Amino acid sequence: MSQGGFDMKKGKKFLLAPSILSADPLAIADSIERTGGEFDWIHVDVMDGHFVPNLSFGPPVVSALRARYPDAFIDVHIMVEPAEDFIDMFAVTRPDLITLHAEATNHVSMALSRVRSLGIHPGVSINPGTSVCLIEPVLSSISLVLVMAVNPGFGGQKFMPEVLLKVRDLVRFRAVHDLEFLIEVDGGVGMDNAADLVSSGCDVLVAGSAIFGDHNSAEAARRIRRQAGL
Ligand code: DX5
Ligand code: ZN
Repeated sequence: MSQGGFDMKKGKKFLLAPSILSADPLAIADSIERTGGEFDWIHVDVMDGHFVPNLSFGPPVVSALRARYPDAFIDVHIMVEPAEDFIDMFAVTRPDLITLHAEATNHVSMALSRVRSLGIHPGVSINPGTSVCLIEPVLSSISLVLVMAVNPGFGGQKFMPEVLLKVRDLVRFRAVHDLEFLIEVDGGVGMDNAADLVSSGCDVLVAGSAIFGDHNSAEAARRIRRQAGL
C-alpha cells in the first residue's frame, strides 16, 4: 500500500462511489448490480447513533461485501465516536480505505496511524462546520480527505455549496506541500453539482440517493459521470 492516494485513482479524472446507505436494505447486492458496474468504489456509511443521530451498518456488512466483490474497492466511512475504538473491528473485514472523522476522536493522528499500520488506506473527514485547518497537521500522512457537504447522518439531504471553498483550499495545500491525498465529497452529490465538484478539484464523488434513489441506477450513474466529465 502506498501512503499517497493517487495510485487509487488509476489515472481516472474522477471516481464515483455509490453510497449503499440509499440501497435497498433487504437487497444491497441487487441494488449494486442494478448500477450495471457504473461505479469505481463502494461507499459504506457506518453510524453509531451517538456521533450521528442514526444507525446503519456494522462489520458483517463489509465482510459480506468483500466476500461477494473480492476485487472491489471498499470505502468505509465511519461516523462513530471514539473513532479509534472501531478501527480494528472494521480492519478485519478487509476494506481498502477507512475514513474517520476528525471531530470523533481526541487522537486523530494516532487513530490514522493505527489504520495505516493495519495495511489499510487512512482517510480523514470533516463536517461542514469544521475548518480544513484542523486537519492540516495530518494531511502529509493520509490517503484521502472526505469533505462532508451535508451534516452527516442521513442520505437525501441538500448539498451545501460553501464546501467547494474547502475543496479548493485542500487542492492548494496539496500542491504547495507536494502531497498526494485524494479529495472526496459526500452528501447531496448528483447531476447538478458533479461538474462543479470535479472542476474544483474533487477526485471522488460519493452519491447515495442520486444513484440508488433513481429507478434506473445505471443511467443515473452514467449521467453523473457525463456531467462530471465535461
Ligand atoms: C451521510 C453519508 C452519505 C450519504 C450520502 O452521512 O455519509 O454517504 O449516504 O447520501 P446522499 O448522496 O443521498 O446525500
Ligand atoms: Zn459517507
